[in-house]
Amino acid sequence: MVRYAEFCTGVGGFRLGIEASLLPSKLVYSNEIDNNCEKTYERNFGSKFDSKDLFNLTSKSLPDFDMLCAGFPCQPFSIAGKELGFGDPRGTIIFKLIEIVHSKKPGIIFLENVTNLLRHNNGATYREIVKCLSDEGYSVSSVVLDSSYFGVPQSRSRIYIVCFRISKYGNKQINFTMKKTPKTPLRPFIIPGDYSIPVSDKWQEYIDYYTGKKKAEDLTFKLTKTRATLERIAPGCDLCDCVFQVRSSGVRALSLDEPLPTLTVLNSGGGAHIPILSKERRHLSIAEMKSIMGFPAWYDFSAVSRTDAAKQLSNAVCPPVIESICNDISAYIDVSRR
Ligand SMILES: C[S@@+](CC[C@H](N)C(=O)[O-])C[C@H]1O[C@@H](n2cnc3c(N)ncnc32)[C@H](O)[C@@H]1O
Repeated sequence: MVRYAEFCTGVGGFRLGIEASLLPSKLVYSNEIDNNCEKTYERNFGSKFDSKDLFNLTSKSLPDFDMLCAGFPCQPFSIAGKELGFGDPRGTIIFKLIEIVHSKKPGIIFLENVTNLLRHNNGATYREIVKCLSDEGYSVSSVVLDSSYFGVPQSRSRIYIVCFRISKYGNKQINFTMKKTPKTPLRPFIIPGDYSIPVSDKWQEYIDYYTGKKKAEDLTFKLTKTRATLERIAPGCDLCDCVFQVRSSGVRALSLDEPLPTLTVLNSGGGAHIPILSKERRHLSIAEMKSIMGFPAWYDFSAVSRTDAAKQLSNAVCPPVIESICNDISAYIDVSRR
């Protein structure tokens, strides 16, 4: 039985993936500072977090565990942010986690972050993290995986880092499963007629305009420069049956027959920015966003507002990818015990 502790828990994407995997596991500790995430987490798992700020945790107050999991904050390393890296307090959470590793010495460490972590500061940031983990006595394996090859209709590339304590498991690299399914298109995940998040009157007009039903001079508002034309139209995309993705730089028309690009807080938070289906003239629903993140249908976001639900989902890990990696970990553990 692998006793695991989750840090930066969010709404429990790691837990969902771990529990769906072949890894025999037991959650022994969970930490997260965000009260709204706790509402969703409690609604679904029936228990609360330790909601202390991670920086105030002492290792003595933590139970023993065999695996540490964390999708540590990505904003300091993301190209969508200022890329302050370790200069942003959130960027130093990894060092607090390594301090916990130093005293708890778990056999396995399982981390997730944005792919740009590899490139940040010309690779120096990632090298520093790997050095710290290696200095603690771990073999470090990492992989970039795209969720759309794991049955999730979203092209979400993330780096996953798995470390094994060399004194327990030897010094080997893990064999990651790179693909479980062909690239997953969005269309089968659309729930026809789910009008739970309607578009505004203004967006009704935008749809008329982008699909050629109305001219610019017939609109009741003046088009801004970034909205006057579509910023990008996916090859073969039917504008009358596509997804409009609203970005600060402009609006993109995406094909329903491809995975959706990465959902981010920026392009999923607040009703206005949740992607829009041109045919049904509505936003994607929370039920659809759940499947776009690989969350199970039973997972309940009704304890928080729609905006918070969208934010929590777009910050989460995709459980099917976590599940696949846990299966890889369980194979590794078995192999090394033979
Ligand atoms: C990328 S999200 C993790 C999402 C999670 N893996 C999931 O599946 O929902 C990072 C999380 O770290 C939490 N966090 C940031 N700073 C923290 C701190 N000082 N102490 C505890 N949690 C913190 C944030 O509230 C956020 O939920």
